[in-house]
Amino acid sequence: MSSGTYFPQNIIIKKRDGGALTQDEIGFFARGVVNGQFADYQATALLMAIFWRGMTPQETAWLTDAMMRSGDVIDLRDLPGAKVDKHSTGGVGDKVSLILAPLAAACGITVPMMSGRGLGHTGGTLDKLEAIPGFRVMLDVPEFRAILQKVGMAMIGQTPQVVPADRKLYSLRDVTGTVECIPLICASIMSKKLAEGIDSLVLDVKFGQGAFMKKKEDALTLARAMVAVGQAAGKPVWAQLTAMNQPLGRCAGHTTEVIESIECLKGRGPDDLMEVTFALTGHMLVLGGAAKDMAEARTKMDTAIANGRALQKFHEMCVAQGGDPRVIEDYSILPTANKKIEVRARGADASGFVSEVDALRCGHAIMALGGGRAAVTDKVDHAVGIADLIKIGEPVAPGTLLCTLHVNDDAKGTRAEALVREAVKFTAAAPTLEPLVQELIS
Ligand code: URA
Repeated sequence: MSSGTYFPQNIIIKKRDGGALTQDEIGFFARGVVNGQFADYQATALLMAIFWRGMTPQETAWLTDAMMRSGDVIDLRDLPGAKVDKHSTGGVGDKVSLILAPLAAACGITVPMMSGRGLGHTGGTLDKLEAIPGFRVMLDVPEFRAILQKVGMAMIGQTPQVVPADRKLYSLRDVTGTVECIPLICASIMSKKLAEGIDSLVLDVKFGQGAFMKKKEDALTLARAMVAVGQAAGKPVWAQLTAMNQPLGRCAGHTTEVIESIECLKGRGPDDLMEVTFALTGHMLVLGGAAKDMAEARTKMDTAIANGRALQKFHEMCVAQGGDPRVIEDYSILPTANKKIEVRARGADASGFVSEVDALRCGHAIMALGGGRAAVTDKVDHAVGIADLIKIGEPVAPGTLLCTLHVNDDAKGTRAEALVREAVKFTAAAPTLEPLVQELIS
C-alpha cells in the first residue's frame, strides 16, 4: 500500500541501509500504523531497522512530534498557571507521583498527570490509585480539564484518543524484541507527555538493578535524548538521574504504597523517598515559576506539608475522582490482606549491616504474591505487598525484621518470602551508600 510518493518498503530499505529518514517519511510511518497504510509486519521491520541503525536527534524529534499528532493533543492553555508534569521510567516502590502531584499543586503548579499501569516487576500509578475504593482513573478529557481547573491536579490513565500510534507501536515492540531502543523509548514517552498539554516536564530516569535502564550511561543517554526532544518541541524538560538499586521507601505494592504516600504527605515519609520527591517536585516548582530556586522550592514544600495543604490536595483529588477520602485517616478502608508474615534475619551471616536489597527480586516477590502483572490483561491484588522493608546500610542481627509481607495465599507468601530472603544481603562492615539523586540534565 502507498500514500502519495511513499511506500513502506522504501522507508524500511532506507533505514535498513543506514539512511536518515525525512520528516515526511516519519510522518507517513506514524500515521500509517494507525490508519493501516503501514501494515504491522512492515512497521515491525522498520522498528527493527531503527533498533539496529538508530535515529539522529532530528529524526527522534520528528518521530516524537508525528506520534504526538497521531491522536488528540490536549490544549490546556486556557487553564491558569504553569502546567508541569513528571514522568518516571519506573521502579520498585516508586510512589513519588502520589506525593509529588498534590505537593506541587499545593505550591501553585497545575499538574495534568497521565500515568500508566504496572507491568512486570514495576508498579503503576493507576493501579495504586485504584486501591482507594471508588477512585476513577479513566476519565475523559472534559472531566480531566474540569478537575484540573478545580483542584489544580488530576491523575488519570491515557485516553484512547491520545497518541494511538504509541499504543500500536508499543504492542508491536513488546513482542518483537524492539523495546530497548533509545530513540523509540524517547519518542514513546515524550509523545505521550507532550500530548498532555504541558508547558514543561521533569523526568526521573532511573538506573540500576530494579530499573528499565540497568547502566547509568544508558540512562544518561536516554535522559539527554528526552531533554533534546523537549527542547525541539519548545518545552523545557529537565531530567534527573536516580539510582534504583533498592526499592524506594519501605513499601511496595498497592495498599502499602498508598499508605506510605499518605504518611509522606503527613510529614512522616522515609528519607530516601522524600529526597527523590523533594528533588523532583522542587524542579517542577522552579520550571513552573512557583519558586526562584531549589532553596525557595524546599521552603514552600516544607510549608505545604507542615500546614496540611498538600494532604488537603490529595483529599480534594480523591473527592473529585470518586475515591473515598476517609482512607486518609482510616487505612483499614483500603483493601487489606488476610495475613501478615514477618520476615526476620536468620542464620550465621545475618549480622552486621544490610549491603543489598535487590529491587528486581523485591518486584518479583510482589508478582509472586499476586500484586503484579505478567501480561497487560492480568488483574492485580491490591491488598498484597511489602511493608517495613529494611534499607541498605541499616544494622542487622539474627531476628531483625527484614520486612512484613501482606499475603492472601500461603503458597504465594512462601514463594515471596524466599525471594525477599534472596534480595537482602549482609556484610560485616557498614557499606558505602551510593547517592540516590545523581545528576540533573537541564
Ligand atoms: N515506557 C514507555 O512509555 N515507552 C517505552 O518505550 C518504554 C517505557
